[in-house]
Amino acid sequence: MTERTAVAIVGAGPAGLLLSHLLDRAGIASIVIESRSREEVETTIRAGILEQGTVEILRETGASDRVTTTGSRHDGIELRFEGEGHRIDFAASVGRGVWLYPQHEVLKDLIAARTAAGQDLRFGVRAVAVEDAETERPRVIATGPDGERIEIEADVVVGSDGSRGVTRETVTGSHGGFYREYPFAWFGVLCEAPPSAEELIYSNSPDGFALISQRSATVQRMYFQCDPDEDPERFSERELWDILQARVPGTTLNEGPIFQRDVLRFRSFVAHRLRRGRVVLVGDAAHTVPPTGAKGMNLAVADVVLLADALRALLHERDERLLDAYPERALARIWKAQHFSWWMTSMLHVAPDASDFDRRRQVGELRSVVESEHGRAYLAEAYTGWPLAR
Ligand code: PHB
Repeated sequence: MTERTAVAIVGAGPAGLLLSHLLDRAGIASIVIESRSREEVETTIRAGILEQGTVEILRETGASDRVTTTGSRHDGIELRFEGEGHRIDFAASVGRGVWLYPQHEVLKDLIAARTAAGQDLRFGVRAVAVEDAETERPRVIATGPDGERIEIEADVVVGSDGSRGVTRETVTGSHGGFYREYPFAWFGVLCEAPPSAEELIYSNSPDGFALISQRSATVQRMYFQCDPDEDPERFSERELWDILQARVPGTTLNEGPIFQRDVLRFRSFVAHRLRRGRVVLVGDAAHTVPPTGAKGMNLAVADVVLLADALRALLHERDERLLDAYPERALARIWKAQHFSWWMTSMLHVAPDASDFDRRRQVGELRSVVESEHGRAYLAEAYTGWPLAR
């Protein structure tokens, strides 16, 4: 049996869930399928910084109040190098801020809001193919929790199934995308300790990069640059604290039991195409960024804001122009975010083959940012997020 809806959404991450929410507000029906269980979606640890525009969308559309009641506003970050911290004051530079609110909390809020609204949202359903992309009746073929075959026909299929989903290939074919790899990864830890600083610390040290982030008054998130093939179990807790501490010279970290550790590999990627006929990519299915600029989820939200407008015009007014314009409009922001994420990454990490020249140049680069009003303003503007097209 073939089911029918206006928009079939593959993937219940931030992009897919927010899209179903915005479409519903515009009176457009959708079915969201997700291969993972609800529990897995709600508990997988991801990054935690939301741009001001992301927060505004979540609040104004009733998707999440907790983002500002539970999350905390940050008006700056610290860039640390050569043993000294330099504050980038977002509020003073650009009059904007960010919120620290973990992605899985956003997901919990979105799932609760969609469920309360009666959204057709199915966990444990794995998309296996998207067919007839170039017709007005594209179809998602999926497998249900008991192995049953599911077929959903829609006006539009949206691929929000991340970097390993099946929709990307439907759109890009064998072309894939533009990408670059990095010769390092992040070793992430969650620990039980009070915060070590009021704001995030992005630190460049001779031993490599570290990021001191937070989760709550009692739980902290920290990362340090490591080899992409690092074994997360190789270090004792003592060794992990010594590594972290050495990467933030000039500050003293509050230590405590480490209860989670993981190695996060990353790369920069942009799909060659974001649309094929009636199949469109958003979020990580379309692009991935290294985590240093905290852009991943925010970029997904920006795609979705553009696409929701395009789908309203298409489905309510039979006007396809915004959908035609979607790839170009989305890519303009995507490449700015790619540049910012790459820049923050290359400026703060130490490449394994870095020469003395490279190291000294990097400190010169950091100085030209923190000592310049304009340098600080560029960082603040990009980090807090360019205005959303609304
Ligand atoms: C985090 O808290 O997990 C986090 C914060 C900032 C980043 C990346 C990750 O740039």
